[in-house]
Amino acid sequence: MDKIIVLDFGSQYSHLICRRIREFSVYAELVPYDISYDKIREINPTGIIFSGGPSSVYNKDAPIPEEKIFDMGLPILGICYGHQLIVNKYGGKVKRANKEYGSSLLRVDSDEDLLNGIGKTVRAWMSHGDEAEQIPEGFKVIGHTDSAKAAAIASEERSVYGIQFHPEVVHTEQGTEILRNFVLKVCKARQDWTMEGFVDMTVEKLSKIEGNVLCGVSGGIDSTVTALLIHKAIGERLKCVFVNNGLLRLDEEKEIEKIFGDNFEMNFTVVDAADAFLGKLRGIEDPEKKRKIVGEEFGRVFSEFAQENGPFRWLAQGTLYPDVIESGVSGGPASVIKSHHNVGGLPDWLGLEVLEPLRELYKDEVREIAKILRVPEKLCMRHPFPGPGLSVRIMGEVTPRKLEICKVASKIVEDELSKAGLYEKVWQAYAAVGDDRAVGVVGDERRYGNIVVIRVVDSVDAMTADWTRLPHDVLEKISNKITNEIEDVTWVTYTISSKPPATIEPQ
Ligand code: XMP
Repeated sequence: MDKIIVLDFGSQYSHLICRRIREFSVYAELVPYDISYDKIREINPTGIIFSGGPSSVYNKDAPIPEEKIFDMGLPILGICYGHQLIVNKYGGKVKRANKEYGSSLLRVDSDEDLLNGIGKTVRAWMSHGDEAEQIPEGFKVIGHTDSAKAAAIASEERSVYGIQFHPEVVHTEQGTEILRNFVLKVCKARQDWTMEGFVDMTVEKLSKIEGNVLCGVSGGIDSTVTALLIHKAIGERLKCVFVNNGLLRLDEEKEIEKIFGDNFEMNFTVVDAADAFLGKLRGIEDPEKKRKIVGEEFGRVFSEFAQENGPFRWLAQGTLYPDVIESGVSGGPASVIKSHHNVGGLPDWLGLEVLEPLRELYKDEVREIAKILRVPEKLCMRHPFPGPGLSVRIMGEVTPRKLEICKVASKIVEDELSKAGLYEKVWQAYAAVGDDRAVGVVGDERRYGNIVVIRVVDSVDAMTADWTRLPHDVLEKISNKITNEIEDVTWVTYTISSKPPATIEPQ
């Protein structure tokens, strides 16, 4: 398989470069900027991209890739900070300029390869503080803006290119086309990253593992696809466990047991550990502590199951690429946003090795695989649900009453969206609850009740999300139903914050 590696210099958009490239069926992988030359040779990429980043090549501690990378004879594309690195490395001059953020008009001076077929002018999204004042010898300017004279440069002889703007963001017109030109025309990468190919390759790799595999399934698409891939590879050596941690959606445990029983031939066991999880969470208010407790309790339950039903060598999890990046374990400079419990949070005493066959994939890629593996539509269309369950949707202590409110209100949200034909159009929809209260009037009585927070978002990969502009009549029905059917609730609010700066889950 041909591969493009993206060296991550810390831009918040780095992962989007991979995302865009994979959209035209070429495998792209984000790697830390200081990846060693030997490691790159091992990966054997077809081309290299330097991402943007917050640093300046002037800074003493500016991140610099290993020198030998430039001599590998591989095509290189530098974006923003990556562009300045290239200018600097080949003997040009970078100067501090006025910060330029937002959209600029890029005028194409030469459309031979990188900027081929994108038109004479395009809107390009800039986000930088430095610019190339003097381009290195052997390079030519292939595009400029009013303020950046060398917004795009090329040394066709070396196959090295630099662009000051971000082609990976949707605000850059023809941005994907520019990446496509680099990957397909300059690097001549083959478009061989298909989900059918991924399934074959993964099943083949998995069929080589020795020992038994324990897979925690949640009823979500990620863990289901993980289990199915492993089952295809090793059959009966896989055992799936579904843990009822008491933090699931209303009646979810019954529903999942039925779907698995009716559709799949895998070993499947339900472990009821609700009392244990809820007991450990009693009195705990801090969000990260709650996540940690849930993660550890999962570990304990799995370990107990493993001892009783083993021996197992592996624990399989449906970790996806965004979880890996957000948890800051990709090795890049991205900071830890939330400690997703299914990444790197397993206690050492578990004694099982971790198997994460989907850790390179985005959600929509997993959905495609689910179709290939004939996962029932009903399960595919379920919204993602966080591993720590309702503990992250209940702000403050998880109490039986707040759990009940959260479950029933979320069911109302989901049902009303389904009735309006909107459930499958949105990314996630749920109700959250905390300790805030507000006064209401019920009949002639004043009541001091809970506030329920509704969150409905649109997203393509959970990395960014926007709040869904739900029709007012749907919101009204949701609010009426919740306040009528859940006695303690007096107010219903709707969340209008996008991600960033908010996250999808409240904790
Ligand atoms: P945030 O809240 O970080 O969520 O914007 C992004 C997506 O990830 C889900 N999520 C989790 N999934 N373990 C998971 O398996 C977790 O700890 C976790 N936290 C958040 C969330 O529902 C959303 O789809």
